[in-house]
Amino acid sequence: MDWKAEMNEYIEMINKALDDYIILTEEPNAIVLESMKYSLFAGGKRLRPVLMLAVCGMLGKKPAVALPYACALEMIHTYSLIHDDLPAMDDDETRRGKPTNHIVYGEGVAILAGDGLLNRAFEIMTDNTLTLEEPMHGLKAMKSIADASGVQGMIGGQTADLQNEGKEINDSMLSYIHHHKTGALISAAVKAGAQMAGVDDKEADQWENIGYALGTAFQIQDDLLDIEGDAAEMGKPVGSDEKNKKATYPALYGIEKSRKKINELTQQVLEAFNPYGEKADFLRSLTEALVNRRS
Ligand code: IPE
Ligand code: IPE
Ligand code: MG
Ligand code: MG
Ligand code: MG
Repeated sequence: MDWKAEMNEYIEMINKALDDYIILTEEPNAIVLESMKYSLFAGGKRLRPVLMLAVCGMLGKKPAVALPYACALEMIHTYSLIHDDLPAMDDDETRRGKPTNHIVYGEGVAILAGDGLLNRAFEIMTDNTLTLEEPMHGLKAMKSIADASGVQGMIGGQTADLQNEGKEINDSMLSYIHHHKTGALISAAVKAGAQMAGVDDKEADQWENIGYALGTAFQIQDDLLDIEGDAAEMGKPVGSDEKNKKATYPALYGIEKSRKKINELTQQVLEAFNPYGEKADFLRSLTEALVNRRS
C-alpha cells in the first residue's frame, strides 16, 4: 500500500475513535464539549497518534491496541494548542485553518476546553488500561504520556518559551525549549507505541530518544515555516514568533544552519529504522514528509 493511503487509514481510525470519545450533551456542560470537539476536528495533521499506531504496528502488535492512548495524546496536544493560542500566551487568531478556540467560545470556555481535553485523555487511558490482559503495557504508556505532558515535559517547555520572549538566549536554553515544548509529546507518541507493543524498558528508552530527535526536527521546521511558510497552507499565521520575540532556531542560528540541524536529526531517526527493513517503510516516508512539510 502506498504510504499516503496507509496514513489515511490511520487518520480514519483516529477520527472515528475521537468522535466516539467526546459525546455532545444538552446539559449545562454542553458548551465545553462543543468547544473541545471544535478544536479536535478543526483539521490537525494527526501526526502524534499516527506515529503511535505505526510504531506499535511495526513492532508486531495490531495498531488498534494503541488507539485509546493515541487519541488521548491527540487530546493533550490539542489542549496545548488551545492554551498556546490564548492572549496570555501567543495571542493567535487562527489555528488549523479556523478561528482559534477563544475567538469562537471566549477565553473562559477555551481554558476549560483545554482542561477538559487533558482530563478526558486520562479518563480514556485509565478506562482502557483496566480492560487489558496486560495492564502493565497500558500503565507504562500512560506514564510516558503523563511525564511528557507535565512540567518535566511540554508544560516545562511552554514555560521556558514564555519566560524567554524578548530575551537573548543561548544554545542550551533553545534546546531545552524545543526538546520539552514539542519533543516531549512526539517522543511520547513513539515510546508509548513501542510500550503498547510490549517492548522492554531499555528498548522503550531507545524509542524515546528517537522520538526526541524527530520532535526537535519537527519544531525547527515549525520555526522555519513561521518565517517562510504560507498562512493559508498552514492554517495558522506566519510571523507569530517575530511578533512575540520568541526564541527560535532561525532567530539564533539563521535559516541555513536550522536546515542543517533538521537534516542531522532526520538522519538519526532514519538510521534507527534500519534494522526493521521494509516494515519501517511507512515510518521512513512519514519522517521525510514531516521534515519537508509546508504545513
Ligand atoms: C503544532 O503542531 C504545534 C507544534 C508543536 C509545532 P502540529 O503542526 O502537529 O499541529 P496540528 O496538530 O497539525 O494542528
Ligand atoms: C507550540 O509551539 C508548542 C506547544 C506545546 C503548543 P508554537 O507556539 O511554535 O506552536 P504554533 O506555531 O503556535 O503551532
Ligand atoms: Mg507557543
Ligand atoms: Mg504558538
Ligand atoms: Mg510555531
